Amino acid sequence: MVKTRIAVLVSGGGTNLQALIDAQNSGIINSGEISLVVSNKPTAYALERAKNAGIKSVVIENKGDRYEFEKQISKILDEEKIDIIVLAGFMCILSADFTGKYENRILNVHPSLIPSFCGEGFYGLRVHKAALEYGVKVTGATVHFVNEIPDGGKIILQKAVSIEDGDTPEILQKRVMEQAEWKILPEAVELVSKNFNKE
Ligand code: GAR
Repeated sequence: MVKTRIAVLVSGGGTNLQALIDAQNSGIINSGEISLVVSNKPTAYALERAKNAGIKSVVIENKGDRYEFEKQISKILDEEKIDIIVLAGFMCILSADFTGKYENRILNVHPSLIPSFCGEGFYGLRVHKAALEYGVKVTGATVHFVNEIPDGGKIILQKAVSIEDGDTPEILQKRVMEQAEWKILPEAVELVSKNFNKE
């Protein structure tokens, strides 16, 4: 079986990238292989994780011209014959031109139960801060396809996580990652890779 070629786009610590690497090593991801990591930040620790796993990585920075930025990303994705793109803590909003080019081929992990606490301005710790401020008792994570609406594409998997007394945004972020993101992201990537092979 020919494996689906996966690119992971990152900006930071890369714990979700690590979860994908671990899932590939343990066989949870079997229909696809992580072939490329793209970071928009040269200092992202995710680059170290890619290197340790022997995965090719590149840094492409947005120098203020989003068209040029996305053009460079597209170029490397084409060169590497990438089938599926995973946004794993990638803190950039992609244009409709870009998302349209890869319809149903871009996945994103978001740290809340969409449609709560999502859309422009909701990323990283801000999401958990908003959930705590609102006072919800349950939050979670969502993996969805990416379209032109920020966090607006079709939902693939979701998992709920309880909020507990005394939670801070940092404590909640860790629980959502451990109990939801690191589980449903690899599962969704396998699901989409498996179906991609059949197309
Ligand atoms: C994760 O919690 C991810 O869901 C979130 O940023 C964190 C990245 O962590 N993404 C977003 O908020 C996107 N809207 P990581 O770099 O350790 O994977």
